[in-house]
Amino acid sequence: MSGVSTMIEVSDLNKTYRRGLFGSTATPAVSDVSFKINRGECLGLIGESGSGKTTLGKLLLRLIEPDSGTATFEGTDLFALKNRDLRRLRLKMQMVFQDPTSSLNPCMTVESCIDEALKRRGVRDRKERERERLGLMEKVGLGPEFLRRYPYELSGGQTQRVVLARALAVKPSFIVADEPTSALDVSVQAQVLHLMKNLQAEYGITYLFISHDLDVVRYMCDRVAVMSGGRIVEIGETESVFNRPQHSFTASLIHQNSELDTFLKEKTDSISRTPSQDLISDQRQETESLTQ
Ligand SMILES: Nc1ncnc2c1ncn2[C@@H]1O[C@H](COP(=O)(O)OP(=O)(O)O)[C@@H](O)[C@H]1O
Ligand SMILES: [Mg+2]
Repeated sequence: MSGVSTMIEVSDLNKTYRRGLFGSTATPAVSDVSFKINRGECLGLIGESGSGKTTLGKLLLRLIEPDSGTATFEGTDLFALKNRDLRRLRLKMQMVFQDPTSSLNPCMTVESCIDEALKRRGVRDRKERERERLGLMEKVGLGPEFLRRYPYELSGGQTQRVVLARALAVKPSFIVADEPTSALDVSVQAQVLHLMKNLQAEYGITYLFISHDLDVVRYMCDRVAVMSGGRIVEIGETESVFNRPQHSFTASLIHQNSELDTFLKEKTDSISRTPSQDLISDQRQETESLTQ
């Protein structure tokens, strides 16, 4: 492909969590991980729970420190940055978490939360911030009336839209989205994914998109990396990884996903065929056991 340029390059990254006296309990979370993220792409990261996906995302944003390894962001040595340089770089990188409510300060209105991000970017003029706030709300599909609300007055989907508006306020070039729609209803999930895709196209944002949902990854991602036991076992174009998995772990992940789909479909079909009969017999059994 022509015109592909590297935004992030990771080499031999390692992270082990240590707890207990003198770090006696060690959990290796990321082991010898090397990969690249191209500018403007959406790289998916899939793998079973506990395989190290969140840890890898946090390492790239310097939310936690690695034990060893290197990473560059647009040619800059990511792990060597300190203080002011690190703060400046953090403006270019944002993280969107699974649980949107815990990522917003419950005591701050939507307005002050976005305002804070704009100030961090150095937008000093009050009128300019007001204009930008309204523009950002429009971009994420929320009316200006939402600016006065507190997080507890928002639904899950609305909260995730606010989180996206706040992330966009600093004009990031890279976003780690960690299971961003897993906590949302299916229909809301589709809307937020669609929004994220549009924002990516409009702002040319690069995503590391972490998800356990293979259908979501297939919809969102240009390439996909597969993690197992802290290692990336496979990486490639999304369609070729899904259609011709090279690693047995990837194949079993895809197989499990299709088995789950079939299982859920069968369940849904049987529920829609005989809803009342099943319910009646369940309730009857419960009543009988209560009265015995
Ligand atoms: N703060 C932590 N302290 C100790 N162990 C952790 C911590 N965070 C994650 N782990 C462990 O590291 C491994 C990888 O976790 P994580 O990166 O959250 O995986 P994933 O996001 O793929 O589910 C798991 O075994 C998990 O229990
Ligand atoms: Mg995780």
